[in-house]
Amino acid sequence: MHAHALLALGLLHGALAAPANTRAPDVVSQNGYRSAPYHGPYSGTPTVLGAAKASKTLAPSIAPKPPNPTATYYNAAGVPTQPMPAPYVPAGGLGTNGTLPRYMVNSDWDFESIALGVYQEYIELDLFHDGLARFSDDDFKAAGIGPEVRSLIEFMANQEVGHATLLSNMLGEAAPKQCVYNYPYRTVREWLDFMQRLTRFGESGVWGFLSHLDSREVSQMLSQSIAIEARQQMVFRQLAGLAPMPVWFENGWPQSWQWTMLAPYISSCPAGQTRLAWQNFPTLHILNNPNINRVDANNTRPDGSEQAGNRITDPSSSNVTQGDACMTANGIGKNCQAALARNRTEPLSYPGKKVYFSWDNPGQHVGPNNSYVTSTTAGQPKFVGWSNQLNLTYSPLTVTGQNRGWTTQPGGMVFGDDGVINDTMAVMLTDLDLFVTPFNTTMLNPHIVALGLYQAG
Ligand SMILES: *[C@@H]1O[C@H](CO)[C@@H](O)[C@H](O)[C@H]1NC(C)=O
Ligand SMILES: *[C@@H]1O[C@H](CO)[C@@H](O)[C@H](O)[C@H]1NC(C)=O
Ligand SMILES: *[C@@H]1O[C@H](CO)[C@@H](O)[C@H](O)[C@H]1NC(C)=O
Ligand SMILES: *[C@@H]1O[C@H](CO)[C@@H](O)[C@H](O)[C@H]1NC(C)=O
Ligand SMILES: *[C@@H]1O[C@H](CO)[C@@H](O)[C@H](O)[C@H]1NC(C)=O
Ligand SMILES: *[C@@H]1O[C@H](CO)[C@@H](O)[C@H](O)[C@H]1NC(C)=O
Ligand SMILES: *[C@@H]1O[C@H](CO)[C@@H](O)[C@H](O)[C@H]1NC(C)=O
Ligand SMILES: *[C@@H]1O[C@H](CO)[C@@H](O)[C@H](O)[C@H]1NC(C)=O
Repeated sequence: MHAHALLALGLLHGALAAPANTRAPDVVSQNGYRSAPYHGPYSGTPTVLGAAKASKTLAPSIAPKPPNPTATYYNAAGVPTQPMPAPYVPAGGLGTNGTLPRYMVNSDWDFESIALGVYQEYIELDLFHDGLARFSDDDFKAAGIGPEVRSLIEFMANQEVGHATLLSNMLGEAAPKQCVYNYPYRTVREWLDFMQRLTRFGESGVWGFLSHLDSREVSQMLSQSIAIEARQQMVFRQLAGLAPMPVWFENGWPQSWQWTMLAPYISSCPAGQTRLAWQNFPTLHILNNPNINRVDANNTRPDGSEQAGNRITDPSSSNVTQGDACMTANGIGKNCQAALARNRTEPLSYPGKKVYFSWDNPGQHVGPNNSYVTSTTAGQPKFVGWSNQLNLTYSPLTVTGQNRGWTTQPGGMVFGDDGVINDTMAVMLTDLDLFVTPFNTTMLNPHIVALGLYQAG
C-alpha cells in the first residue's frame, strides 16, 4: 500500500518522522489490552433519548422500485464485450479506473454503519478480556479450557484493538469511544456461549451492510477485519462444543438487528459519545431456546428459565443436572466439551419443533445510559421470520395470549441437503410474510414486531 493511503487510514501517525518500524502505530483502546475495572448496570438518568436523527426524514419507509435499468449485463458467449481499459483489465468494476483510494466513510449510511462497527469492536475487546480476568484456573480447567486456548482468546481480544483503531480512523474525530458493559454470564461455559452469540451478530451485521457501503475502500478494509471476526465466531462455537459451521452460507443482517442485540449489554458511554441512527426492536424471548448444555436440548424447559438471564442474546444456562449435561456425558454425539468438531445425536433443534415465545412491548429504554427506546412500526404479529443462510423464510404464529404465542419450526433447504435453519440465527415476529432476499433484507424492518436470537444448531 502507498504511504498516502496509509496516512488516510491513520496508520502512519508519527511514523513518517521516525525511521520505519521503530514505533508501533497509535491505537484507540482506553483500557489498554485489558478488561475494564467496572462491569454492571447503569443506574443514572440519560441526558438525551432516542436514536440519532437528521433534521429531516423524507418518508415513513423505503418504497420498493423496479430493477435498476442499468443492471442488464449478460454474457452468453463468455468473452469480454467492451473495449479493455488496459491489457489484462476487463472493463467495469468500481474503483478500478486509477482514482486514488480514500479510506474514509463517504455517506451517512457509511458513517452510521462503521460507527455501529466501532461499538461492536469495543465490546468484543472488553468481553474477551473480561472472562480471562474473571475466572480462575480451576474454572477454566473444569470447562476444558487449557492455557493455550486462553492465550488464543487473549490474542483474539487484542485483534479487537486493531479493528477498533481501523474503524475509528475511517470515521474521524466523531468515532464512538469505549463504553461500560453489563454481561450476563456466570460461568466459563456461559461466557464462551455468549461470545459465540455476540460474534454472530457482529459478523452478520457486517455482512448485511458491507456491499451497501458507498466507500469501496472502507468496504475493502472492513472485509479484511470481518474475515477475522468470522474466524472468532467459529472458534467460540468450537470452544462451546457446537458444530463449527453447520451452514453453507453465513447470513447478513440489517444494522438495526445488530444494534438491537448489542445495545442491551452496553450500560453507559462517555459524555459526548456519538449516537447511532439505527432502530432498537422490542425483544422476542424464545422460551424454549435450545440449551446447548444438554445432551438432548429438546428437554429445555419451555418457560425461559434455561437462559442465564432475560436479555436478547443471553447464553444458555450451564446449570444443568448431571445426567442431562453434555459436558459430563460420554461418547460421540453426546459429549460437548471444547473440540474442533462435535456431532449431536439429538439435534439442538429440528423442523417440526414447537417453539414458544413471549415478546416485549415497544417503549423500553435500552442501551448506553438507557438512552435508546425500543420501537416498532409493525401491526399485529402474524408470522415468525427465520433469517439464515441465503433465506428469510416464514412460519405462521399462533397467538395464545397477551404477547405470547408459538410456531412450528419450518424445514426447507438452501441447496441440496443444506437445511436453512441451523446455527446461531435471527428470528422475528412480523405482521407480513414479505419476500426479501440477501440484498434487500432491510425492507422487512418496518414489519418487525420483535426480534430474537435462536440457537438452532
Ligand atoms: C472512476 O471511478 C469512480 C468510481 O469507482 C467514479 O466515481 C469516477 O467518476 C471515475 N472517474 C472517471 C474519470 O471515469
Ligand atoms: C452516560 O453516563 C455517563 C457516566 O455517568 C455520563 O458521563 C454520560 O454523559 C452519560 N451520557 C448520556 C447520553 O446521558
Ligand atoms: C421432542 O420433544 C417432544 C415433546 O416431548 C416430542 O414430541 C418430540 O418427539 C421430541 N423430538 C425429538 C427430535 O426428540
Ligand atoms: C442450579 O439449579 C438448581 C436447580 O435447578 C438450583 O437449585 C441451584 O441453585 C442452581 N445453581 C446455581 C449456581 O445457579
Ligand atoms: C456425525 O453426524 C453425521 C450426520 O450429521 C453422521 O453422518 C456421521 O456419521 C457422524 N459422525 C460420527 C463420528 O458419529
Ligand atoms: C433458500 O434460498 C435458496 C437460494 O435463493 C433457494 O434456492 C431456496 O429455495 C430457498 N429455500 C427456502 C426454503 O426458501
Ligand atoms: C444442521 O447441521 C448439522 C451439522 O452440524 C447436520 O447434521 C444437521 O442435519 C443440520 N440440520 C438441519 C435441520 O439441516
Ligand atoms: C427483494 O428482492 C427480491 C428479488 O431478489 C424481490 O423479489 C422482492 O420483491 C424484493 N422485496 C421487496 C420488499 O422489495
